[in-house]
Amino acid sequence: MTPVSGQNTRGDCGAKGTDPLYIRTHHCGQLRAADVGSTVRLAGWAHSYRDHGGVIFVDLRDREGITQVVFNPQTHAESHRLAESIRTEHVIAVEGVVDHRPEGTINPDLPTGQIEVDVYQLQILARPESLPFELSEGSEVSEDLRLRYRFFDLRRPAMQQNLQTRHRICQAIRSFLDQRGFWEIETPFLTKSTPEGARDFLVPARLNPGHFFALPQSPQLFKQILMTAGYDKYFQIVRCFRDEDLRADRQPEFTQLDLEMAFVTEEQVMEVTESLLKELTRRILQIEMPEPFGRISYAEAMDRFGCDRPDLRFAMELKDLKAVAADCKFQVYRKVIESGGQVRGICLSGGATLSRKDLDQLTTFVQGLGAKGLAWFRIDPDKLYAPIAKFFTTEQLELLTSTFDAKPGDLILTIADTPAVVAKTLSALRTNLAERFNLIPQGQYRFCWITDFPLFETDPQTHRPTPTHHPFTSPNPQDLDTLEADPLNARARAYDIILNGTELGGGSIRIHQQDLQKRIFALLGIEEQQAQQRFGFLLDALRMGAPPHGGIALGLDRLVMLFCGLDSIRDVIAFPKTQRGNCLMTEAPSPVDPQQLSELGLRLLSAKKKHP
Ligand code: AMO
Ligand code: AMP
Repeated sequence: MTPVSGQNTRGDCGAKGTDPLYIRTHHCGQLRAADVGSTVRLAGWAHSYRDHGGVIFVDLRDREGITQVVFNPQTHAESHRLAESIRTEHVIAVEGVVDHRPEGTINPDLPTGQIEVDVYQLQILARPESLPFELSEGSEVSEDLRLRYRFFDLRRPAMQQNLQTRHRICQAIRSFLDQRGFWEIETPFLTKSTPEGARDFLVPARLNPGHFFALPQSPQLFKQILMTAGYDKYFQIVRCFRDEDLRADRQPEFTQLDLEMAFVTEEQVMEVTESLLKELTRRILQIEMPEPFGRISYAEAMDRFGCDRPDLRFAMELKDLKAVAADCKFQVYRKVIESGGQVRGICLSGGATLSRKDLDQLTTFVQGLGAKGLAWFRIDPDKLYAPIAKFFTTEQLELLTSTFDAKPGDLILTIADTPAVVAKTLSALRTNLAERFNLIPQGQYRFCWITDFPLFETDPQTHRPTPTHHPFTSPNPQDLDTLEADPLNARARAYDIILNGTELGGGSIRIHQQDLQKRIFALLGIEEQQAQQRFGFLLDALRMGAPPHGGIALGLDRLVMLFCGLDSIRDVIAFPKTQRGNCLMTEAPSPVDPQQLSELGLRLLSAKKKHP
């Protein structure tokens, strides 16, 4: 065996002469021009294979990068002969000497692009049978196929980079919070229902027939109990489970960075979260964020953006048009104002180029979200044009234009409806147009806090107040006297952190007096006996002396997704579920053996009974 040299910078790369060939001296992203002349061992997957008139070039890939290895028939005939049978994704180990790449073949895009390894010893460790798809960037592969063959898809360098970023973010979080005095404490997965607004995943308890555990929707109650027990500062990077409708940024199991602090107000929780996020942008994105994150009240966010998670990377704010609409002759506007509704709009700079077909499409888009129509006004070079312009006086049209500070070439789009429909449709239209017209600057990270949320909203089914966040959120002390009389106007001591239009996290100051907690349960129609049965342990813990406390949870998957510049959290989760909540790789969920069901004391209803 030839002695090997090379700098062993990693524990796994310390090859000695007697080791098998796959005990490496270096990984595939490591060698540089300074290593020329060294004897090295590399191992990995054949990313690509090229036969250039007898000389064979293989891009050897591992997690860390790609190195070009060369098989020359003149100098090393035996390894060259074996190399002829290499195909992409074969697992190989090589030993050779680092050499400069010939003039003209240097690859400046690759950290190892100045060198190649002249191989004199090759071992083929595994020859894959058939491959499900091409791994190269840009090859069009459906997501279902990628998820079915996730074990293969995870080989893609882009996936490996995403998961590396995730790892680095988790490490940075742990080190930051440790320095700030937080303890990492685990809370149970087999537990009781925690109300976070979604359905629970249930786990039948074999030892207690007819009883079920719920998987936690969050560690909310446990972290509060840790505070009552004096743990002061807690955090956990923790899996949460929610059986809800899935979207690109929602998975049935996802990860939260969950934290809680005792003897704090909103300010301390927000300060620690903000400092952590700034540390992460500095370490992961190399971006300094010197300014404090902006704070916008819920009411102001709804007014300016129509939603409570505004994307601040572009303007296009909503404007109220009551002054234009109230006295105009356009029936639609007038009737809506008379019935207590709103007329509001946005102005698309340069939108006058939109065709009738484009405008029809936008109308269909907002109608799909519940609007009845979309009335538009185009600012042409000489005058304003709109099919409904005749219903407005010159003064009203001037007021409309000045409200938006609209310029020739702009397009004003308006919706008249209930405040809820106007907010929902205009905020969706704002985002849709920004994406379509490339108004969103790339590489920008705009954080903001949303504060002063309403404590309750009306449940559309029961028409009763229901918590906007969860029932443990403290009301604003100024609203305590009117809580029962006017619950829908009570404000919560809650805050959300938004990044680029995505809700990254949310938290609140909690109720730490059991009397107030009982009052909230009563207001929500949760009877004392029921409250005791569902959350008795929390009420008991509060009864025994709880400090004022509060916290927050950040969606880790969403954070990593945004830091990686991606649109779906599935790309930053190693083994995600599909939009339909399945794992295509393992084919879970799947039917179980009748024996297993009987051990659990369960019998299935027939499909017909289940879906009458
Ligand atoms: P909340 O329900 O707002 O708060 O959740 C906190 C954050 O978790 C992320 N998140 C999700 N990510 C992916 N898939 C999902 N299905 C999903 N659901 C939520 C979001 C969200 O902002 N116990 C409280 C926190 C607290 O009060 O301290 C809680 O869970 O980014
Ligand atoms: P109509 O009077 O129904 O012919 O509508 C005239 C224009 O107003 C059309 O462009 C409709 O899309 C638009 N429109 C109708 N209802 C509304 C509404 N509630 N808000 C905004 N525009 C509307």
